[in-house]
Amino acid sequence: MAKLIGGLGTSHVPSIGVALDKGQDQTDYWKPLFDGYDYPKQWMKENRPDIAVVIFNDHGNAMFLDRVPTFTVGVADKYAPADEGWGPRAIPHFDGAEDFSWYFADKLVENHFDPMIAREIDVDHGLQVPMELFFGRPEDKWPVRILPIWVNTVQFPIPTPQRCWEMGQILRAAIESYPTDERIVVMGTGGLSHQLQGTRAGFLNEQADRDWLASIGNNPGKWRDLSREDFVEIFGSEGAELIMWLVMRGAMDASVNVKHTHYHLPASMTGAGCIVLENA
Ligand code: DHB
Ligand code: FE
Repeated sequence: MAKLIGGLGTSHVPSIGVALDKGQDQTDYWKPLFDGYDYPKQWMKENRPDIAVVIFNDHGNAMFLDRVPTFTVGVADKYAPADEGWGPRAIPHFDGAEDFSWYFADKLVENHFDPMIAREIDVDHGLQVPMELFFGRPEDKWPVRILPIWVNTVQFPIPTPQRCWEMGQILRAAIESYPTDERIVVMGTGGLSHQLQGTRAGFLNEQADRDWLASIGNNPGKWRDLSREDFVEIFGSEGAELIMWLVMRGAMDASVNVKHTHYHLPASMTGAGCIVLENA
């Protein structure tokens, strides 16, 4: 059977991608952020996943407010980087883990989850940035195939934290019943605290961000049991993207080893962080 080898979480701030495009990762502004990704990159090299499940949200690039699926599962064999206004970035396209993606989509429906199924769709910074942070930029091919899962964190009603957790549990069961010996890593993305709009634009909450990183490993129930409104209040309207880490955390064991955490503030207008978890 396939094996879940670990769960990682990270911010996906788009200007991280721009900093990489412009070769600014060693500047005074960006170096403290990028230094925190040396460990996860090394972890990926040592643990050699075949498939990365990436949980993220689209930001009005592949979908817009005319159609807002709560959950979307990609089943394509290939995903192109979305054009977010300056042309697609010069990174390779992403190969889809097509067979496992269909298998997972079927398991979801069997378990009374009803996602949108996407056979043709571009992936924006929500996926591009975490992939580059964790794997580095490849010359022509990413070292893993991907299963992308989009969660609506943009327009209410967004899903509950509990619902994200439940999707993670189905993901775990799908991995462990999938009849190959592939190694699968799960990546939750988004956050940490930020709000890009409204009267609280620029809102950050360093204390809550640090609390999240300290407790999502071995006290995740504290976050899973909050409401959607709590997430918006504590982390900001876009900081509520953190519910997507709960899909990753829900896929892991009750008890995990926290191998690494990193926090840096601000990256753009965002509290930026990452975590690496292994099942205990
Ligand atoms: C920013 C952060 C995000 O997570 C995002 O999706 C877009 C912008 C920011 O801080 O600039
Ligand atoms: Fe985002």
